[in-house]
Amino acid sequence: MSIEISGENPTRNLTSSRLVPEDEGELSLRPRTLNEYIGQKLAKDNLRIFIEAARRRGEALDHVLLHGPPGLGKTTLAEIIANEMGVNIRKTSGPAIEKPRDLAALLTNLNDNDILFVDEIHRLNRSVEEILYPAMEDGEIDIIIGQGPSADSIRLPLKKFTLVGATTRSGQISAPLRDRFGVILKLELYTPEELKLIIQRSAELLNIGIDPSGAEEIAKRCRGTPRIANRLLKRVRDFAEILADGVITKAVADDALTRLEIDRLGLDNIDRRLLRSIILQYGGGPVGLDTLAATVNEETVTIEDVYEPYLLQQGFLTRTPRGRCATRMAYEHLGLPHPEENGGNSGQLKMDF
Ligand code: ADE
Repeated sequence: MSIEISGENPTRNLTSSRLVPEDEGELSLRPRTLNEYIGQKLAKDNLRIFIEAARRRGEALDHVLLHGPPGLGKTTLAEIIANEMGVNIRKTSGPAIEKPRDLAALLTNLNDNDILFVDEIHRLNRSVEEILYPAMEDGEIDIIIGQGPSADSIRLPLKKFTLVGATTRSGQISAPLRDRFGVILKLELYTPEELKLIIQRSAELLNIGIDPSGAEEIAKRCRGTPRIANRLLKRVRDFAEILADGVITKAVADDALTRLEIDRLGLDNIDRRLLRSIILQYGGGPVGLDTLAATVNEETVTIEDVYEPYLLQQGFLTRTPRGRCATRMAYEHLGLPHPEENGGNSGQLKMDF
Protein backbone atom coordinates (compact mmCIF):
# COMPACT_ATOMS: atom_id res chain seq x y z
CA MET A 1 0.00 0.00 0.00
CA SER A 2 1.35 3.39 -0.83
CA ILE A 3 1.14 6.31 1.51
CA GLU A 4 0.29 9.57 -0.07
CA ILE A 5 2.24 12.53 1.18
CA SER A 6 0.13 15.64 0.91
CA GLY A 7 1.54 18.79 -0.64
CA GLU A 8 1.19 20.56 2.70
CA ASN A 9 4.27 22.35 3.85
CA PRO A 10 5.64 20.32 6.77
CA THR A 11 7.10 23.49 8.29
CA ARG A 12 3.92 25.43 7.89
CA ASN A 13 3.05 25.74 11.57
CA LEU A 14 6.62 26.58 12.31
CA THR A 15 6.87 29.56 10.06
CA SER A 16 3.27 30.71 10.03
CA SER A 17 3.00 33.89 12.02
CA ARG A 18 -0.61 33.12 12.92
CA LEU A 19 -1.22 31.84 16.42
CA VAL A 20 -1.47 28.03 16.43
CA PRO A 21 -2.49 25.79 19.38
CA GLU A 22 1.13 24.94 20.07
CA ASP A 23 1.79 28.59 20.90
CA GLU A 24 -0.27 28.41 24.08
CA GLY A 25 2.87 28.45 26.17
CA GLU A 26 3.69 31.70 24.41
CA LEU A 27 1.44 33.45 26.89
CA SER A 28 3.93 32.83 29.68
CA LEU A 29 6.70 34.31 27.54
CA ARG A 30 4.88 37.55 26.94
CA PRO A 31 6.49 40.60 28.51
CA ARG A 32 4.26 42.39 31.01
CA THR A 33 5.79 45.87 31.06
CA LEU A 34 7.23 48.28 28.50
CA ASN A 35 10.66 47.80 30.06
CA GLU A 36 10.48 44.05 29.44
CA TYR A 37 9.24 44.52 25.88
CA ILE A 38 12.13 44.31 23.43
CA GLY A 39 12.15 46.22 20.11
CA GLN A 40 9.54 48.47 18.44
CA LYS A 41 11.47 51.40 19.91
CA LEU A 42 9.51 54.14 18.18
CA ALA A 43 6.09 52.76 19.14
CA LYS A 44 7.29 52.00 22.67
CA ASP A 45 8.88 55.41 23.31
CA ASN A 46 5.75 57.22 22.14
CA LEU A 47 3.44 54.95 24.12
CA ARG A 48 5.48 55.53 27.25
CA ILE A 49 4.85 59.28 26.97
CA PHE A 50 1.14 58.95 26.20
CA ILE A 51 0.61 56.50 29.07
CA GLU A 52 2.49 58.67 31.57
CA ALA A 53 0.60 61.80 30.46
CA ALA A 54 -2.80 60.09 30.71
CA ARG A 55 -1.90 58.65 34.11
CA ARG A 56 -0.82 62.02 35.47
CA ARG A 57 -4.09 63.57 34.34
CA GLY A 58 -6.04 60.62 35.70
CA GLU A 59 -7.65 60.18 32.30
CA ALA A 60 -8.23 57.26 29.97
CA LEU A 61 -5.55 56.88 27.31
CA ASP A 62 -6.67 58.07 23.88
CA HIS A 63 -7.82 55.31 21.49
CA VAL A 64 -4.90 53.37 20.00
CA LEU A 65 -4.65 51.58 16.66
CA LEU A 66 -1.83 49.03 16.32
CA HIS A 67 -1.09 47.76 12.85
CA GLY A 68 1.49 45.51 11.27
CA PRO A 69 2.10 41.90 10.23
CA PRO A 70 0.91 39.06 12.50
CA GLY A 71 3.07 37.76 15.33
CA LEU A 72 4.80 41.04 16.22
CA GLY A 73 3.12 41.55 19.58
CA LYS A 74 0.01 43.67 19.07
CA THR A 75 -2.01 41.80 21.71
CA THR A 76 1.00 41.82 24.03
CA LEU A 77 1.30 45.60 23.68
CA ALA A 78 -2.41 46.04 24.44
CA GLU A 79 -1.94 43.99 27.63
CA ILE A 80 1.11 46.02 28.55
CA ILE A 81 -0.82 49.26 28.05
CA ALA A 82 -3.52 47.99 30.43
CA ASN A 83 -0.90 46.90 32.94
CA GLU A 84 0.99 50.20 32.80
CA MET A 85 -2.25 52.20 33.05
CA GLY A 86 -3.37 50.02 35.97
CA VAL A 87 -6.73 49.23 34.34
CA ASN A 88 -8.64 46.14 33.21
CA ILE A 89 -8.55 44.87 29.65
CA ARG A 90 -11.40 43.13 27.87
CA LYS A 91 -10.30 41.27 24.74
CA THR A 92 -12.40 40.45 21.71
CA SER A 93 -12.08 40.45 17.93
CA GLY A 94 -13.86 42.03 14.96
CA PRO A 95 -15.51 38.84 13.70
CA ALA A 96 -16.62 37.87 17.23
CA ILE A 97 -18.79 40.99 17.56
CA GLU A 98 -21.66 39.98 15.32
CA LYS A 99 -24.42 42.38 16.33
CA PRO A 100 -24.56 45.98 17.57
CA ARG A 101 -25.99 44.66 20.82
CA ASP A 102 -22.87 42.48 21.34
CA LEU A 103 -20.75 45.60 21.21
CA ALA A 104 -23.19 47.53 23.39
CA ALA A 105 -22.92 44.78 26.03
CA LEU A 106 -19.12 44.95 25.95
CA LEU A 107 -19.03 48.73 26.18
CA THR A 108 -21.57 49.08 28.99
CA ASN A 109 -19.66 46.57 31.12
CA LEU A 110 -16.40 48.53 31.08
CA ASN A 111 -15.20 50.40 34.17
CA ASP A 112 -13.59 53.85 34.17
CA ASN A 113 -10.48 54.03 31.95
CA ASP A 114 -10.69 50.31 31.04
CA ILE A 115 -9.36 49.02 27.75
CA LEU A 116 -11.42 47.28 25.12
CA PHE A 117 -9.06 45.37 22.83
CA VAL A 118 -10.48 44.50 19.42
CA ASP A 119 -8.21 42.27 17.36
CA GLU A 120 -8.74 42.13 13.58
CA ILE A 121 -10.68 45.36 13.85
CA HIS A 122 -10.84 45.61 10.05
CA ARG A 123 -13.32 42.73 10.15
CA LEU A 124 -15.99 44.57 12.15
CA ASN A 125 -19.24 44.67 10.29
CA ARG A 126 -20.70 47.98 9.24
CA SER A 127 -23.61 48.09 11.69
CA VAL A 128 -21.28 47.36 14.62
CA GLU A 129 -18.77 49.91 13.42
CA GLU A 130 -21.41 52.61 13.42
CA ILE A 131 -22.09 52.06 17.13
CA LEU A 132 -18.41 52.52 17.74
CA TYR A 133 -18.20 56.05 16.30
CA PRO A 134 -20.25 57.87 18.98
CA ALA A 135 -18.80 55.54 21.63
CA MET A 136 -15.26 56.56 20.74
CA GLU A 137 -15.97 60.21 20.08
CA ASP A 138 -18.62 61.23 22.61
CA GLY A 139 -18.55 58.38 25.11
CA GLU A 140 -22.13 57.36 24.42
CA ILE A 141 -24.13 54.88 22.38
CA ASP A 142 -27.57 54.93 20.84
CA ILE A 143 -29.57 51.83 21.54
CA ILE A 144 -32.66 50.98 19.54
CA ILE A 145 -35.49 49.62 21.66
CA GLY A 146 -38.33 47.74 20.00
CA GLN A 147 -38.97 47.12 16.32
CA GLY A 148 -40.81 48.64 13.39
CA PRO A 149 -42.66 51.96 13.65
CA SER A 150 -42.75 51.86 17.45
CA ALA A 151 -38.97 51.45 17.72
CA ASP A 152 -37.31 54.10 19.80
CA SER A 153 -33.72 55.03 20.41
CA ILE A 154 -32.20 55.88 23.75
CA ARG A 155 -28.82 57.40 24.36
CA LEU A 156 -26.66 55.68 26.94
CA PRO A 157 -23.62 57.36 28.46
CA LEU A 158 -20.52 55.17 28.82
CA LYS A 159 -17.65 55.24 31.27
CA LYS A 160 -14.45 56.71 29.82
CA PHE A 161 -12.62 53.90 28.04
CA THR A 162 -9.78 53.27 25.60
CA LEU A 163 -10.31 51.27 22.47
CA VAL A 164 -7.15 49.47 21.39
CA GLY A 165 -7.66 48.13 17.88
CA ALA A 166 -5.25 45.77 16.14
CA THR A 167 -5.06 44.93 12.49
CA THR A 168 -2.80 43.36 9.93
CA ARG A 169 -4.58 45.35 7.20
CA SER A 170 -4.72 49.03 8.00
CA GLY A 171 -5.74 49.74 4.41
CA GLN A 172 -9.04 47.99 5.04
CA ILE A 173 -10.03 50.20 7.95
CA SER A 174 -12.67 52.73 6.96
CA ALA A 175 -11.62 56.39 7.11
CA PRO A 176 -14.24 57.33 9.76
CA LEU A 177 -13.00 54.60 12.09
CA ARG A 178 -9.35 55.36 11.48
CA ASP A 179 -9.93 59.07 12.15
CA ARG A 180 -11.23 58.31 15.63
CA PHE A 181 -7.95 56.83 16.84
CA GLY A 182 -5.77 59.46 18.52
CA VAL A 183 -2.70 57.21 18.46
CA ILE A 184 -1.76 55.10 15.43
CA LEU A 185 1.30 52.90 15.82
CA LYS A 186 2.87 50.75 13.16
CA LEU A 187 4.76 47.67 14.31
CA GLU A 188 7.74 46.70 12.17
CA LEU A 189 9.45 43.36 11.64
CA TYR A 190 12.14 42.93 14.33
CA THR A 191 15.87 43.15 13.66
CA PRO A 192 18.04 40.06 14.21
CA GLU A 193 19.65 41.83 17.20
CA GLU A 194 16.26 42.38 18.85
CA LEU A 195 15.20 38.82 18.08
CA LYS A 196 18.39 37.47 19.60
CA LEU A 197 17.51 39.24 22.88
CA ILE A 198 13.93 37.92 22.72
CA ILE A 199 15.19 34.36 22.12
CA GLN A 200 17.68 34.62 24.99
CA ARG A 201 14.95 35.93 27.28
CA SER A 202 12.56 33.12 26.27
CA ALA A 203 15.29 30.48 26.62
CA GLU A 204 15.94 31.65 30.15
CA LEU A 205 12.24 31.58 31.05
CA LEU A 206 11.88 28.09 29.56
CA ASN A 207 15.16 26.85 31.01
CA ILE A 208 16.64 26.07 27.59
CA GLY A 209 20.43 25.96 27.21
CA ILE A 210 21.51 28.19 24.34
CA ASP A 211 24.74 29.98 23.52
CA PRO A 212 24.82 33.45 21.91
CA SER A 213 25.68 32.06 18.47
CA GLY A 214 22.74 29.64 18.66
CA ALA A 215 20.36 32.49 19.52
CA GLU A 216 21.82 34.51 16.66
CA GLU A 217 21.22 31.70 14.18
CA ILE A 218 17.55 31.34 15.12
CA ALA A 219 17.19 35.15 15.13
CA LYS A 220 18.38 35.30 11.51
CA ARG A 221 15.92 32.64 10.41
CA CYS A 222 12.58 33.54 12.04
CA ARG A 223 11.27 36.06 9.49
CA GLY A 224 11.58 39.02 11.85
CA THR A 225 8.78 37.65 14.04
CA PRO A 226 8.98 36.89 17.78
CA ARG A 227 6.14 34.37 17.61
CA ILE A 228 8.10 32.34 15.06
CA ALA A 229 11.35 32.83 17.01
CA ASN A 230 9.78 31.31 20.13
CA ARG A 231 8.30 28.44 18.15
CA LEU A 232 11.62 27.66 16.46
CA LEU A 233 13.42 27.88 19.79
CA LYS A 234 11.25 25.06 21.15
CA ARG A 235 11.73 22.89 18.06
CA VAL A 236 15.48 23.46 17.92
CA ARG A 237 15.66 22.47 21.59
CA ASP A 238 14.24 19.05 20.61
CA PHE A 239 17.09 18.55 18.14
CA ALA A 240 19.62 19.78 20.70
CA GLU A 241 18.37 17.28 23.29
CA ILE A 242 18.18 14.26 20.98
CA LEU A 243 21.08 14.84 18.61
CA ALA A 244 23.48 16.90 20.74
CA ASP A 245 24.15 17.58 24.40
CA GLY A 246 21.04 19.71 24.97
CA VAL A 247 22.64 23.09 24.39
CA ILE A 248 21.66 25.08 21.31
CA THR A 249 24.82 26.17 19.51
CA LYS A 250 25.11 27.71 16.06
CA ALA A 251 25.84 24.27 14.57
CA VAL A 252 22.86 22.65 16.32
CA ALA A 253 20.53 25.49 15.26
CA ASP A 254 21.79 25.41 11.69
CA ASP A 255 21.33 21.65 11.43
CA ALA A 256 17.85 21.74 13.04
CA LEU A 257 16.58 24.62 10.91
CA THR A 258 17.91 23.00 7.74
CA ARG A 259 16.07 19.81 8.65
CA LEU A 260 12.95 21.95 9.13
CA GLU A 261 13.52 23.26 5.60
CA ILE A 262 14.12 26.81 6.74
CA ASP A 263 17.04 28.10 4.73
CA ARG A 264 19.93 30.33 5.77
CA LEU A 265 17.98 33.50 5.11
CA GLY A 266 14.90 32.22 6.88
CA LEU A 267 12.83 31.36 3.82
CA ASP A 268 10.56 28.34 4.04
CA ASN A 269 9.06 26.12 1.34
CA ILE A 270 6.25 28.48 0.54
CA ASP A 271 8.54 31.52 0.22
CA ARG A 272 10.74 29.62 -2.19
CA ARG A 273 7.74 28.26 -4.12
CA LEU A 274 6.41 31.82 -4.47
CA LEU A 275 9.66 33.23 -5.78
CA ARG A 276 10.29 30.25 -8.05
CA SER A 277 6.83 30.57 -9.49
CA ILE A 278 7.26 34.29 -10.26
CA ILE A 279 10.56 33.56 -11.96
CA LEU A 280 9.78 30.37 -13.82
CA GLN A 281 6.14 30.85 -14.70
CA TYR A 282 5.90 34.60 -15.04
CA GLY A 283 9.34 35.55 -16.32
CA GLY A 284 10.22 37.25 -13.02
CA GLY A 285 6.99 39.28 -12.95
CA PRO A 286 5.08 41.43 -12.73
CA VAL A 287 2.35 39.01 -11.75
CA GLY A 288 -0.89 39.90 -9.98
CA LEU A 289 -1.36 38.76 -6.40
CA ASP A 290 -4.50 36.72 -7.12
CA THR A 291 -2.83 34.91 -10.01
CA LEU A 292 0.18 34.17 -7.87
CA ALA A 293 -1.97 32.92 -4.99
CA ALA A 294 -3.84 30.56 -7.32
CA THR A 295 -0.57 29.30 -8.80
CA VAL A 296 0.95 28.38 -5.46
CA ASN A 297 -2.37 27.29 -4.00
CA GLU A 298 -2.38 29.70 -1.07
CA GLU A 299 -4.93 32.26 0.12
CA THR A 300 -4.34 35.76 -1.21
CA VAL A 301 -4.54 37.25 2.29
CA THR A 302 -2.00 34.76 3.62
CA ILE A 303 0.46 35.77 0.93
CA GLU A 304 -0.16 39.44 1.58
CA ASP A 305 -0.08 39.30 5.39
CA VAL A 306 2.38 36.53 6.12
CA TYR A 307 4.76 35.93 3.21
CA GLU A 308 5.10 39.23 1.43
CA PRO A 309 6.20 41.45 4.32
CA TYR A 310 9.31 39.37 4.91
CA LEU A 311 10.12 38.85 1.24
CA LEU A 312 9.75 42.59 0.63
CA GLN A 313 11.81 43.52 3.66
CA GLN A 314 14.58 41.13 2.70
CA GLY A 315 14.64 42.46 -0.85
CA PHE A 316 13.49 39.31 -2.66
CA LEU A 317 10.30 40.84 -3.96
CA THR A 318 9.08 44.21 -5.18
CA ARG A 319 5.52 45.41 -5.46
CA THR A 320 4.63 47.41 -8.56
CA PRO A 321 1.24 48.71 -9.76
CA ARG A 322 1.17 45.82 -12.25
CA GLY A 323 2.02 43.10 -9.76
CA ARG A 324 4.83 41.40 -7.88
CA CYS A 325 8.35 41.04 -9.29
CA ALA A 326 11.24 38.85 -8.18
CA THR A 327 14.48 40.76 -7.62
CA ARG A 328 17.94 39.79 -8.75
CA MET A 329 18.58 38.64 -5.18
CA ALA A 330 15.74 36.14 -5.50
CA TYR A 331 17.31 34.65 -8.64
CA GLU A 332 20.67 34.44 -6.89
CA HIS A 333 19.25 32.91 -3.74
CA LEU A 334 17.44 30.21 -5.71
CA GLY A 335 20.44 29.62 -7.96
CA LEU A 336 18.56 30.61 -11.10
CA PRO A 337 20.17 32.63 -13.91
CA HIS A 338 18.94 36.24 -14.13
CA PRO A 339 17.57 37.17 -17.59
CA GLU A 340 20.21 39.86 -18.04
CA GLU A 341 22.84 37.17 -17.78
CA ASN A 342 20.83 35.14 -20.23
CA GLY A 343 21.13 37.49 -23.20
CA GLY A 344 18.22 39.63 -21.98
CA ASN A 345 15.86 36.78 -22.79
CA SER A 346 13.36 37.85 -20.17
CA GLY A 347 10.39 35.61 -19.67
CA GLN A 348 11.84 32.73 -21.68
CA LEU A 349 13.44 30.94 -18.79
CA LYS A 350 11.89 27.50 -18.67
CA MET A 351 12.81 25.00 -16.02
CA ASP A 352 11.11 22.20 -14.12
CA PHE A 353 10.05 22.99 -10.61
N1 ADE B 1 8.29 37.82 23.48
C1 ADE B 1 7.60 38.00 22.36
N2 ADE B 1 7.72 39.26 21.92
C2 ADE B 1 8.53 39.91 22.77
C3 ADE B 1 9.06 41.22 22.83
N3 ADE B 1 8.79 42.14 21.92
N4 ADE B 1 9.86 41.51 23.86
C4 ADE B 1 10.15 40.57 24.77
N5 ADE B 1 9.70 39.33 24.75
C5 ADE B 1 8.90 38.99 23.77
